[in-house]
Amino acid sequence: MDRLDKMSKLEQIQAAEARLLLSTYDRNPILFVRGEGVHLVDEQGEKYLDLLSGIGVNALGYAHPAIEEAIAKQSRALIHTSNLYYHEGQAELALRLTERTGLDRVFFSNTGTEAIEGALKLARAHAGLLRSEGKHIGTKFLALEHSFHGRTFGSMAATHKAKYREPFAPGVPGVEFVKFNDIADLRAKFSNEVCAILVETIQGEGGIRPLTQEFFAEARALTESTGALLIADEIQCGMGRTGKWCAYQHFGILPDVTTLAKPLAGGIPLGAIVCTEEAARAIHAGMHGTTFGGGPLACAVAIAVIDAIERDNLLAHATEVGNYFLAQLRALALRHNAIVDVRGRGLMIAAEISSAELAKLVVAEMLKRHILINCTSDTVLRFLPPYILERAHVDTAVAALDEIFTEPAAHSDAQTAGGKNNGQGSF
Ligand SMILES: Cc1ncc(COP(=O)(O)O)c(C=O)c1O
Repeated sequence: MDRLDKMSKLEQIQAAEARLLLSTYDRNPILFVRGEGVHLVDEQGEKYLDLLSGIGVNALGYAHPAIEEAIAKQSRALIHTSNLYYHEGQAELALRLTERTGLDRVFFSNTGTEAIEGALKLARAHAGLLRSEGKHIGTKFLALEHSFHGRTFGSMAATHKAKYREPFAPGVPGVEFVKFNDIADLRAKFSNEVCAILVETIQGEGGIRPLTQEFFAEARALTESTGALLIADEIQCGMGRTGKWCAYQHFGILPDVTTLAKPLAGGIPLGAIVCTEEAARAIHAGMHGTTFGGGPLACAVAIAVIDAIERDNLLAHATEVGNYFLAQLRALALRHNAIVDVRGRGLMIAAEISSAELAKLVVAEMLKRHILINCTSDTVLRFLPPYILERAHVDTAVAALDEIFTEPAAHSDAQTAGGKNNGQGSF
């Protein structure tokens, strides 16, 4: 096929999607056909450096042999059974997850939002159990401003941005938002009417913002004082992205419940709720369930992903390359006023830009240079690369950013930018 024919394939797909799909997505005009390592390849054979990994999913990059082998082997044996019967994968994966999270019991879902839904249901059921045992505890949830927990009704009710909730009103009642990292507001809103506090240990969509040690500790202390559950949503920051299996392990604080998804099965949909024995007391057969969640294929791949992360020392690698990435971005911030902050942990990294227009321009310019990043919270360039990223890839990305911020468009914007904190606002 010549170049024109190949281009028309993308155009044909665009036209068909415009006719056939709900218009939920504003896609970039690229047709990816395969991937290898940290690169995606489009229909014309052009390579793209992927610093977003399918929004934090493809932890081992593309075409990783461990994933290919697990899929091939398991697909030949058994893909789906339903949860009416046993298969070999769930207990084996649950053991790995309980050992790595420090928690006791697991429920498998398919996606992040389903894990959140299940965690909210668990908290309500647990509060009901406590009430039946004579405790006074209510049904209210506290979530945080700038949070993102998913698109289904319960998760959406706990997601702060009004634009995600308002078109679908009325939402699920019973969620109150606490100002981010504001201990006084948390104390004021907490009472024994609350059955759970839901937090992202490091907010993802909210702009790569960590909880402060003090705020997280206060949330832990308050929930402990009443029996309410502390739920840490680790869907974006968990499973090794920050250099530890769970981001809450950087704080030395153990929640009652954590939710996992995105990179859990390296690109095959899988989510999980992991909780304490105490919280698990509230759930009995028939109370919650799913047709697909925890199927043999997804479990086999998740086991392979966890084992590969461990065998290849990817937690240490994510820390090392992440620190290098942060250092390079901080050096860049010293040269370009438009970068007002650099923060992150491991391979969950943000560079905050002086204006939303400039941030958008930078994402588009990076794409022209075949480097995939995105922008969240209007002004935050977000990097969620595969854990197999190397320093050389960081150098490529930082050189591209340097070039973009040196160009007249970025430069003129930077002249009008406000103050900056020298890019040292990390954690
Ligand atoms: C922290 C967090 N929680 C929950 C979700 C929802 O996950 P999913 O899109 O798999 O439903 C996301 C997705 O971006 C997330 O970042």
